[in-house]
Amino acid sequence: MTRAAQERDPGNTADRRSKGAVLGRVSQREAVEDFASFVSPGKVAVYRSLGFEAVPGRREGVYVWDLEGRRYVNCRSSGGVFNLGHRPPRVTAALKEALEELDVGDHMLMSELRGRLARRLAELTPGDIRYSFFVPSGGEAIDLAIKLARGYTGRPGVVSAEKGYHGHTGFALSAGEQRFSRHFEPLMPGFSKVPFGDADALERVVGPQTAAVVLETIQATAGVIVPPPDYLPRVREICDRAGAVLILDEIQAGLGRTGRLWACEEWNVVPDILVLGKGMSGGVYPMSAVCFRPHLDRFFREHPFVHLSSFAGSDLGCVCSLAMLEQTTEPGFLEHVREMGARFEQGFADLCRRHPDLTAGWRGRGLMLAFEMARDDFGPMMTYALAQFGVIAVFSDFRPRAMQIMPPLIIRDHEVEEVLEAMDKALTLVGRLVEAGFTPPPVP
Ligand SMILES: Cc1ncc(COP(=O)(O)O)c(C=O)c1O
Repeated sequence: MTRAAQERDPGNTADRRSKGAVLGRVSQREAVEDFASFVSPGKVAVYRSLGFEAVPGRREGVYVWDLEGRRYVNCRSSGGVFNLGHRPPRVTAALKEALEELDVGDHMLMSELRGRLARRLAELTPGDIRYSFFVPSGGEAIDLAIKLARGYTGRPGVVSAEKGYHGHTGFALSAGEQRFSRHFEPLMPGFSKVPFGDADALERVVGPQTAAVVLETIQATAGVIVPPPDYLPRVREICDRAGAVLILDEIQAGLGRTGRLWACEEWNVVPDILVLGKGMSGGVYPMSAVCFRPHLDRFFREHPFVHLSSFAGSDLGCVCSLAMLEQTTEPGFLEHVREMGARFEQGFADLCRRHPDLTAGWRGRGLMLAFEMARDDFGPMMTYALAQFGVIAVFSDFRPRAMQIMPPLIIRDHEVEEVLEAMDKALTLVGRLVEAGFTPPPVP
């Protein structure tokens, strides 16, 4: 606890503490002060400019309550971390039980749990994908995928897509948009970018020096961009012809988000490396995975200890991932995702009819959806307005007019209705703000 927090009214603090073991020791206002004073004044300034100063407190299922007790439906889900909702009972129970016996384990030694999880992924991932290497974050997983492609091919080139997002670590940052990398140049050499969805452009740059093509199967941060039907099959052919490794980043799109277990199944494309993260462990443990086809393992056989990371493939994380996979692969789970996605799409059609001047359609698959506003500056206004009506949803970083609607996959009918009603009210509020001549401050 900070000194500032200790100096606050002790009676009150004790009273709040009695409500829970961890949360509620300070008021929301005090939590914001602590965050601004000791974590990040810059971030607090942005939250304030968006009119969103809620500090998440209690959380359960699709809901998050702020420290003042206001309830929100979480349609951000941290990009898929909360695919199974907040604190999914099965995963938290598995973790609690595991804590009686396990710790993170030693990443340099073998692990029963890592073997079991990798075996399950080999059964579930498409084609002949077989081996899995686990690391804590998505960025590290992308880094490792690129290392494997370079190590295996002995080539330097990495081609990715404009407006792609793969994380903020070294190779991942170099593969992503300039917006996040420009302060850190020079970046890794050998990286180039082409427009997403344009196979001809890709064909022009992929050649004998290309180690890997790295793409999100569906671009998330670009505004939920679904590629044209022949794109990924052609990308596969281009990589095969050039001997380049195809890396598909399904950190957001995988694990059921699109209504299929893997987004790439829609195009019947098997990547050489499938990268998973976010929802990998039910939102209670950091876990990501690099799943790859057998031929690539030649490199790791020659260099078995070439990528080391103390928390890689933690035993506790593996327990969570196994519980997550059990739930995600249960009969009916993916049908439910598709049904809820269709319900949202019907609702979006109504909203577009009711608010034609503010909206411009929607797109996506399953519960990976973007609701398109008519102008870029409407996106931040919609984020603000939705928060007023109890929904957390964000505009896309690289296309602010595209509101990402990514609720937990376990969302139920009445909760979808709650979100759609809030969207209707929020659009009315945005309309009023526009009429009043309000323009939101630019988001850095
Ligand atoms: C598609 C995609 N790839 C990679 C990452 C990076 O994952 P992490 O934040 O766990 O490093 C993200 C994170 O948002 C992502 O959306």
